[in-house]
Amino acid sequence: MALTVAFIGTGKKRERGSLEGYAMAYTHAPGYLALDDVELVAACDIIEDNVQAFAEQFGIPDTFADYHEMLAEVEPEAVSICTWPHLHEQMVIDCAQAGVKLIYCEKPMADTIGGARRMMEVCDRTGTALNFNHQRRYGKPFSMAKQMLDDGAIGDLVRIEWGGANIYDYGSHNFDMAQYFNDETPPSWVMAQIDYHTESFWFGAHNENEALALIGYDNGVFGLCITGAVQDAVGAHNRLVGSEGIIEIGAQVEGAGALRYRTFGGGDWQQVDTEGEGLHAQVFIERAIADAVNSYRNGTRSMMDAHNAIHGTEAIFACWESSRLRARVETPIEAEGNPLQEMVEAGDLSPQPAEE
Ligand SMILES: NC(=O)c1ccc[n+]([C@@H]2O[C@H](COP(=O)([O-])OP(=O)(O)OC[C@H]3O[C@@H](n4cnc5c(N)ncnc54)[C@H](O)[C@@H]3O)[C@@H](O)[C@H]2O)c1
Repeated sequence: MALTVAFIGTGKKRERGSLEGYAMAYTHAPGYLALDDVELVAACDIIEDNVQAFAEQFGIPDTFADYHEMLAEVEPEAVSICTWPHLHEQMVIDCAQAGVKLIYCEKPMADTIGGARRMMEVCDRTGTALNFNHQRRYGKPFSMAKQMLDDGAIGDLVRIEWGGANIYDYGSHNFDMAQYFNDETPPSWVMAQIDYHTESFWFGAHNENEALALIGYDNGVFGLCITGAVQDAVGAHNRLVGSEGIIEIGAQVEGAGALRYRTFGGGDWQQVDTEGEGLHAQVFIERAIADAVNSYRNGTRSMMDAHNAIHGTEAIFACWESSRLRARVETPIEAEGNPLQEMVEAGDLSPQPAEE
């Protein structure tokens, strides 16, 4: 029998995406259509024009404004959730409780750490495979770097560094990538400071302006991340420092290419051919969805399973909690909420509206 797939939150396809909407459902649908025995059966959006345009583009027969009705009437086996983060927890839980067996949800997991933990617990109880779209794991610069690491090209992993826009929305990918490079080893502590003086909303959620964080992982590997205006201090999108050398992905050096490495005492940087792939590509999502569907069919967990995603998510919220407590915090943190949002609500942080 074909796998039946439905979508929640189609978005509106625009010439260029923005932090107000990328219409990620349009990037998921081709991933399913590339697979055998998959049928796109229904789509839902609270905006009628959005769902109609999406259904027309992908030949989807049934459309809804209320996802509860869609789940009850269509009973899809799989659902892609492409809404903003504050909606993920409830939607995932409602899908799992309605009998959906494969969920492919956009990142970040949820807008609170408690919400992320609950989504995973409910899906474990209902036997639902819960995946998050951390698609960069399927991009060649990243997977080749992991292979080089596993092959011992830079000795033992010592430190994972990354620079990016923020800890939460963009950082969700980078903290997840750290899990990938570090064999899914959980973080054990985080020490971080943030600055949040100008409002920064990404898909409706607060994100700090700048952060500096040190993470300790259970196996002794360190993580270092720098975000926002000062992210260039890292000088690369991701850097793996080993006992015998360094791998850099997206080094901010002219001519560095997407992936390069060097060994200590072994001469200059060596550029690695990533077969034309850079740091972002639609094909990563198509490979990721293929892996999610195949893993589900084989009764195994994909790399994007919640049981992996939760560790990066714990690190995200621990950074903000460390800043709030002015202390190094052990993970998992005791808090259940969203420390950044709570600091704003309490008046401990007063970000001002951004100038137009
Ligand atoms: N994986 C990536 O690289 C990547 C890139 C961009 C965005 N994202 C993530 O994707 C997620 C979605 O972002 P987007 O840009 O696609 O959003 P979007 O605004 O383009 O689309 C979201 C849609 O959800 C609909 N919606 C809202 N409430 C709903 C409800 N109750 N029922 C049904 N539909 C509802 C909205 O009407 C809208 O059409 C975010 O979590 C964002 O962080 C991921």
